[in-house]
Amino acid sequence: PVVKFVNAEGVENAVEATVGESLMQAAMDNMVEGIAADCGGGCSCATCHIYVAPEWATKLEAPNEIEEMMLENVMDQKDSSRLSCQIEISDDHDGLVVHLPESQY
Ligand code: FES
Repeated sequence: PVVKFVNAEGVENAVEATVGESLMQAAMDNMVEGIAADCGGGCSCATCHIYVAPEWATKLEAPNEIEEMMLENVMDQKDSSRLSCQIEISDDHDGLVVHLPESQY
């Protein structure tokens, strides 16, 4: 599935993600800048913060309790905020668009 990251300046970066990996991993594997992922996907750093594009808001599985808690502490939190390490890529995600925050810190 192809997923698209749009940075804070509006620059788009479409990458081929692998089913079963996380959205964060897809960004890392493809050198997408703007995601720090300090904890390596453990849902404990919140530096893999992204915003899900409106048209995808209802198509992703809802965050679990731990992710919800972590999201309370991200910079510039919005309703569309998610932690990209907690989104597992499936074939349904082809065409997914997410936006990157200006900063993870
Ligand atoms: Fe640390 Fe996602 S990589 S919370």
